[in-house]
Order: sequence, then structure tokens, then C-alpha cells
Amino acid sequence: MSQGQRPGRDRDGPSHVAVIMDGNGRWAQMRGLPRQEGHRRGLEALRRTVKNAGELGIEILTLYSFSTENWRRPPAEVSFLLGLLKRFVDKDLAELHAAGVRVRIIGARLDLAPELRHLVERAEAMTRDNTAMLLVVAFNYGSRDEIARAAARLAGEVAAGRLAAEAIDETLLSSRLDTADLPDPELVIRTSGEMRISNFLLWQAAYAEFVFTPVLWPDFDRAALEAALAEYGRRERRFGGLGDPIDRAVGAA
Ligand code: IPE
Ligand code: IPE
Ligand code: MG
Repeated sequence: MSQGQRPGRDRDGPSHVAVIMDGNGRWAQMRGLPRQEGHRRGLEALRRTVKNAGELGIEILTLYSFSTENWRRPPAEVSFLLGLLKRFVDKDLAELHAAGVRVRIIGARLDLAPELRHLVERAEAMTRDNTAMLLVVAFNYGSRDEIARAAARLAGEVAAGRLAAEAIDETLLSSRLDTADLPDPELVIRTSGEMRISNFLLWQAAYAEFVFTPVLWPDFDRAALEAALAEYGRRERRFGGLGDPIDRAVGAA
């Protein structure tokens, strides 16, 4: 069984929750405001969610903040979003660090401008030894890109004679992904009513539970997070089996 998977019903909450934070633009549009205002309010929802997740005992929170496809947006929106990330690292990092949050960034960081890359490295280095919660920020992240980069790394190792092609299995491929060492998310939440995965954690979410909520990301609050966790608690996870007989016996008692 791959890492992060546990058979049977998860009685306690998920330890790794991933969120596709969607709907900033529509939130603004509905109010006759520029999309940028939606993104600004989205950053507030992000701060709120990190705090709530910590309080609710979530150990790992992964947030999809910018996809490899989001570069297709108008340049002004792209630079605004990059600016928000910079501001987040500049202004929030000290506070996150004080709260014991470890930050890790996944995505194609080598494609980023040096300034952004250094920002990302600084955030990771500063919070490296923190243990309260792990905040994974998916930035310039695309799952297909991540898998292709992992495949290229493995191919390089084979070509260099350090690895036999036959040795490549699920565990080895996992270990070359940006999420190496992280357990798979048990729960993926997407806001704004869209029911698609948009190139997010395709490999890692193979057996995740999905909760889709119509709430637009800037409105996502503690109640919305708790509702998603409650929905997760009602799911029966089977991983292709028939459920854990011990679990079922306990459930019947
Ligand atoms: C999510 O909100 C933020 C990012 C994808 C960066 P959107 O900007 O996608 O908002 P909608 O989907 O247009 O409402
Ligand atoms: C997914 O949202 C990416 C992030 C939340 C960062 P999008 O708004 O980019 O997704 P699509 O285009 O609706 O699929
Ligand atoms: Mg969107």
C-alpha cells in the first residue's frame, strides 16, 4: 500500500488536507469590484484557514495558490498574484514562524524569477525546524509538470548508471515528486462550486476524498472548513477493498 493510505473508515479527522482555493474573481465580480480585490480578500481567507486548520488539529495543509496554467491570465493579474505571494512571505512569514508553522513550497521553482525563488527558499530555511503544522504552498504548480520532472530525474539517474530502470516503482517515483516524504492528502476541498481537479495533486490524490463547496474562497471560514471535515467524517474509505472487518465489527457493536 502506498504511503499515506490507511484502510477502513477514518474515525479521526484527516491529517493532511489540500485545498483548491477558487472563486476570488467571481467573489469580486458579484460585488462590482475588480478581480484584484477578490485576490486580496482571498489572501485573508488563506491566513484565516491556516489558523483554523492548526486549531482543528490538521497537521498538513496544502494550498493551491498558483498553477502552471495560471500564466495564461492577463499579465496584470499575473503580476498582482505574484506580488501577493511576495507580500505574504514578507509580512506573514515571521508570524507563521512564531506560531511554529513549517513552510514548504511545491511547484516548478526553477522556472521562477530569481527574486521569487530566493523568497521561497528563505521561507523554507527559516521555518525548517518548526513542528506545529506544515503549510505546503503549491506555487507555479502543475501535477503533470511535477510528474514529468520526476520522470526526467529518474531517467537521468538511469542514464548515469545510478539506477536500474527495473527498480522504478510507485515508491521511487513518489520520492522524486515535489511532495516526497509527505503523506498523501486524505481530503481535497475545492471552493466555488467547480468540480474539477485542474492539474492538482493528480498522483497524490489517487484515493483522497473530495469535498466540493459552493462557497467562494474569500468567504471560506471556520464553519466552511468544519463542514468539509464533517463531510469527510461521513465517508467510508475503502481503497479498493471491502472496508476493514475489524472496523465494521466495532461499528456494529
Ligand atoms: C482563485 O480564484 C485564485 C487563483 C486561481 C489564483 P480565481 O481567480 O480563479 O477566481 P474565479 O475562478 O475567476 O472566480
Ligand atoms: C485552480 O483554479 C488553480 C488554483 C486555485 C491556484 P483555476 O481557477 O485556475 O482553475 P480552472 O481554470 O477554473 O480550472
Ligand atoms: Mg478560478
